[in-house]
Amino acid sequence: MSLPVDVVVMAAGKGTRMKSQRPKVLHCLGGRALAQHVIDCAAGLSARSVVVITGHGAEQVEAGLQAPAGTALRFVRQEPQLGTGHAVQQAVPVLADDGVVLVLNGDVPLIEPATLQKLLQASAGQHLALLSVDTGEDATGYGRIVRTSDATRSVQAIVEHKDANDAQRRITEWYSGVMAAPAALLKGLLGRLTNDNSQGEYYLTDVVKHAVAEGREVRAITTADAVQVAGVNSPQQLAELERAHQRRLADGFMAQGVRLADPARFDVRGQLVCGQDVEIDVNCVFEGRVELGDGVRIGAHCVIANARIEAGAVIHPFTHVDGEAAGVRVGPGALVGPFARLRPGADLGAEVHIGNFVEVKNSTLAAGAKANHLAYLGDATVGERVNYGAGSITANYDGANKHRTVIGADVHVGSNCVLVAPVTIGAGGTVGAGSTITKSTEPGALAVARGRQTSIAGWQRPQKQKKA
Ligand code: UD1
Ligand code: CA
Repeated sequence: MSLPVDVVVMAAGKGTRMKSQRPKVLHCLGGRALAQHVIDCAAGLSARSVVVITGHGAEQVEAGLQAPAGTALRFVRQEPQLGTGHAVQQAVPVLADDGVVLVLNGDVPLIEPATLQKLLQASAGQHLALLSVDTGEDATGYGRIVRTSDATRSVQAIVEHKDANDAQRRITEWYSGVMAAPAALLKGLLGRLTNDNSQGEYYLTDVVKHAVAEGREVRAITTADAVQVAGVNSPQQLAELERAHQRRLADGFMAQGVRLADPARFDVRGQLVCGQDVEIDVNCVFEGRVELGDGVRIGAHCVIANARIEAGAVIHPFTHVDGEAAGVRVGPGALVGPFARLRPGADLGAEVHIGNFVEVKNSTLAAGAKANHLAYLGDATVGERVNYGAGSITANYDGANKHRTVIGADVHVGSNCVLVAPVTIGAGGTVGAGSTITKSTEPGALAVARGRQTSIAGWQRPQKQKKA
């Protein structure tokens, strides 16, 4: 029987090097706050609770983070911030004694549940266990793992860089900031921390030497995956980690068969779900929840958010789709763009064509309808096979309220028409080019509403007056 897991996320630090008004842990990676990645990872472990330690920008941080499904989220304030050990001490009153505590850094976003699971196994409900990193490279800035020189190589202490001697600074194995220990053991060790070190802080890392002094075995598992344990301290590190994260996502999609023109120019800032034979050209950004059906092709430079693009549809370059809460659906075989804009509630049926500089909002287009050039469809219900001319718009807003336009099946709307809602164009009807339609029309009728053309033969244009 494994113990229930309670996660402590340290997020009270200032993040000075970000040089930002926004607290560091709220900066986004892959469209999600750094600390939210960490919290969501805890949910991946089926943790019983997550306790986030806040301090700098506490109100903003607390408002900016959400509990993952099935896990209780609590915030504990640390005022003032006297170090990582002091941070975890603040959580002691809310941590149950019967669990195992997993301590994570709010600024180390890409740690994976599988790695944490291994750490919990090493802790085995009895031991203090550390996640260490050894890539064989210089570990300047990090706490070094000091081991005995005998064959057991057992862990003796973590020595912070600023407190380390030259020999210790040559050690390449460093502490990731992640540890696990039974709550009762951790609480006892936290009670022993002092701040007699070069920074005058209560170091969480000192729990190691206290455990060793009590004759306890401290276990360490080591990873060489620098991305999982990389911390974010500066905009440069944030950008580097963003690319590393996107590259991992891109590799995952390509492994499923998605064809990316260039995995280095691909960004997912939400949840993307792809069918078979999906092709995505360069510089596309996906936000919120996006589903791409079988055979969908996305042209270069598209931004697509909160949308379902169904099988065989093609989104041409430079198209912007954002369904926000209402969503957008692009039906099977539809063609959209280039330079199209689909807004919330755009629902395109099978084989619909939306061309360049066409905007669609809160409108349903039935199968085969086409609006190919420079047009606006807002709050409209458009029937099958309708042809909606260049430059035509639905005037859906009277300055106070929005009204619907209904266009029956097989209607032909000429170029440069204004359909003043509420209005209905009867099925099979035609609207002459340049008409401003304010009254509903009968099925099959031709409606023309514009000034009649007048022609004056031999018309002389005014001449410029000659100067005297
Ligand atoms: C810490 C470790 C170091 C390790 C490194 C890995 C300590 C003493 N050192 O150093 O061994 O190699 O992480 O990245 O733990 N925080 C608080 N309250 C505080 C201080 C910090 O909540 O009073 C939070 C910060 O917001 C941050 C985390 O704790 O999320 C780590 O703090 P930071 O100051 O970045 O520790 P490091 O010096 O990087
Ligand atoms: Ca740090």
